[in-house]
Amino acid sequence: MEEKLSKVAQSLKPSPIQELSHLAQRCNAINLAEGFPDFPTPSEFKQAAISAINSDFNQYRHVQGICDHLAKDIKQRHGLHVNPLTDIAICCGQSEAFAAAVFATINPGDEVLLFEPVYETYEACITMAGGIPVYVKLDPPHWTLDLDRFLKSFTVRTKAVVLNSPHNPTGKVFTADELDAIAEACCKMDCLAITDEVYEHITYDMDKYVSLASLPGMQQRTIITSSLSKTFCVTGWRIGWAVASAPIASAIRNIHVKLTDSAPAPFQEAALTALISPPEYFETLRKDYKEKRDYIVRILLGVGLQIHFVPQGSFFVFAELPENCPLSDMEFVAELIKKAGVAAVPGCTFFRTKLSHKELSQSGQDYQKRYIRFAFCKSSATLSSAEQKMADIVDSEGYLQLY
Ligand SMILES: Cc1ncc(COP(=O)(O)O)c(C=O)c1O
Repeated sequence: MEEKLSKVAQSLKPSPIQELSHLAQRCNAINLAEGFPDFPTPSEFKQAAISAINSDFNQYRHVQGICDHLAKDIKQRHGLHVNPLTDIAICCGQSEAFAAAVFATINPGDEVLLFEPVYETYEACITMAGGIPVYVKLDPPHWTLDLDRFLKSFTVRTKAVVLNSPHNPTGKVFTADELDAIAEACCKMDCLAITDEVYEHITYDMDKYVSLASLPGMQQRTIITSSLSKTFCVTGWRIGWAVASAPIASAIRNIHVKLTDSAPAPFQEAALTALISPPEYFETLRKDYKEKRDYIVRILLGVGLQIHFVPQGSFFVFAELPENCPLSDMEFVAELIKKAGVAAVPGCTFFRTKLSHKELSQSGQDYQKRYIRFAFCKSSATLSSAEQKMADIVDSEGYLQLY
């Protein structure tokens, strides 16, 4: 029956990391691959969800209090005026908010700029809408945006730029100059921006997180998407949102209603408890993740991996293979699972374009096969067992004995 599948369904192949996931399960490996916490959700959030269920908030529902809170928060943090009645759509996680934002704005043939390396799900949504993903490479080792390359990627068909900052998989937070350049280009080319800000509260070593929407001329042309998932340790609750100008937010809401009707009712109610967390909650979140970041960076450097870019946000580190390592990222991860019992994600999954001959000869190596993403949203016990397991197979020169 495969011939009955749509072209989009046929194009969505299982990723090679699924095989590595099975290997990791068979080897009972410690999971530093997936981007969700393995420690408990704060008990007051869980209690709020339980009590919402017991209070019979169990039917289709729109909880306006979420929009009211988000509007206040966006005013306070970014200085933007958002109308809570018209400019916000509550969705099932950032994932659905992003998909609905794409379906609301992208026509077949429209081009959408994405920065590479890239979080995997954007491409599928754009393709499902008939849009064309156009990749703009960020340059290693600091994943900098080459302005010239970025500007040359625009055509008359460019409809939107997707910006994920803090960035998965690198942990990069786009600089003020980069944000200015993106904003300026969007205004000049009359393009939309769709931002993915799920890691907005997980940043390190910086005074203030800046949303692209707060730059001059950007609020009207930006669709902010974000969610509770990462900030409140509730990736399974599936509560997210899109914030946009009223006509776009209304289109996103219509699409959301057609797709899923409403986000889970009891978790929307419980979201109110999470969202009004005091400032100390957010400070502790950043402090705890900073400690975990520093710890994993020490662990990985200690076993010979190279880290030229220490993450400034998110809970991922994109580490480079040891200089003389003959293995590809896929081979390295397979060996790491088999010999050390630790799972991570091969970096090649975040690259969608091949390097040109010129780029290959300039860098001397195919850097797209030389990175591994480690997730550090894990308990201290998990991180320290990963450290122990890797330390057990380190040779006298301080490298993992994988090859
Ligand atoms: C960059 C990024 N965006 C979105 C998501 C998914 O967010 P949600 O759980 O709100 O759908 C993830 C999850 O890993 C992510 O890394």
